[in-house]
Amino acid sequence: MNVPLLDLVAQHRAIADEVVPAMLAVVERQQFIMGPEVAELEAAVARLSAVRHAVACASGTDALLLPLRALDLAGGDEVIVPSFTFFATAGAVHNAGGTPVFADIEPATFNISVPAVEAAITPRTRAIIAVDLFGQMAPLAELAALAARHGLALIEDAAQAIGARRMVDGSWRVAGEMGTVGTLSFFPSKNLGGWGDGGMMLTQDDALAERLRKLRLHGGAKQYHHEEVGFNSRLDTVQAAVLLVKLRYLESWSGARRSHAARYGDLLRGIPGVVPPVTDPANEHIFHQYTIRAERRDALAAHLRERGIGCAVYYPTGLHLQPCFAHLGFARGSLPETERAMAEVLSLPIFPELTAEQQDEVVSAIREFYA
Ligand SMILES: Cc1ncc(COP(=O)(O)O)c(C=O)c1O
Repeated sequence: MNVPLLDLVAQHRAIADEVVPAMLAVVERQQFIMGPEVAELEAAVARLSAVRHAVACASGTDALLLPLRALDLAGGDEVIVPSFTFFATAGAVHNAGGTPVFADIEPATFNISVPAVEAAITPRTRAIIAVDLFGQMAPLAELAALAARHGLALIEDAAQAIGARRMVDGSWRVAGEMGTVGTLSFFPSKNLGGWGDGGMMLTQDDALAERLRKLRLHGGAKQYHHEEVGFNSRLDTVQAAVLLVKLRYLESWSGARRSHAARYGDLLRGIPGVVPPVTDPANEHIFHQYTIRAERRDALAAHLRERGIGCAVYYPTGLHLQPCFAHLGFARGSLPETERAMAEVLSLPIFPELTAEQQDEVVSAIREFYA
């Protein structure tokens, strides 16, 4: 039995009757740029994420780039970021004119370490980016307090964590709600994925929301009037229409991912060589990825692929070791937990439609490898 890492065809088949007509309605109207579905999606995601403003843009990468641009970084200004993340997190800092400063992670959750962030703060630091990696929130309250003490902006890269929650002082806080800005990606493989690229910026700050709305439209709120140089970074109406349909399913999809994760946890327990993912007790995880640590990881991955089982290494190389950031001087050995994770992690198939039989197949192949 083949088990894909992700099966978007299964998802599409289940909702095709709703999502195709929604797309065709946009086609009939021919209003492909800033049609009414974009504002409708912004309002719906703002409600979900408990923020005053949601501003749609062209990708999760731009959702990071625009707020970084709004910081007006000058040469040498630093932004503290994890190294164990997707490239965009640090690439956006560079493209906004800043210098990424890489901080190590907590080994249990793979999220950025608060003491490591604190140790990396210098007089040039302007912002911190926390990534909610694999679908569970970083310690946002602690990071927000740290950012406030030092007068820094806090950007929460929630590209992998839409709708994830964290218990803070007895109440649930949602991914994207607690930083200066929260960012989302609608890349097709995300828990809420479009039919192409898309992203969103979340904020409680009225003035910042207005600036972000300008930045996505070439820097001008009015046509042919530009207060600053911005970007062309809008979400297509077609994407918004697709995402509005899918958003209705997000909660049940995330619930299905959580129950698959719980079942994996039961099935994997006791297999020597495998450490299942750890959920911080304060978090409600949405399991964008189900990422184990594995002994002889590369050999296990090859064995799974041979058996027709999809798996992937997110991420094989920390950003501090990427050639494009070599000039920043982070040598091998400088971020030990990031480097250990790079060597040990393996993401297994997880998606809402994953069947018990498929899961059993994955686990029996892992068991066979370590037998
Ligand atoms: C953590 C993280 N940040 C940023 C991005 C960038 O999003 P996009 O691919 O929509 O530009 C992604 C996903 O691709 C991501 O996983």
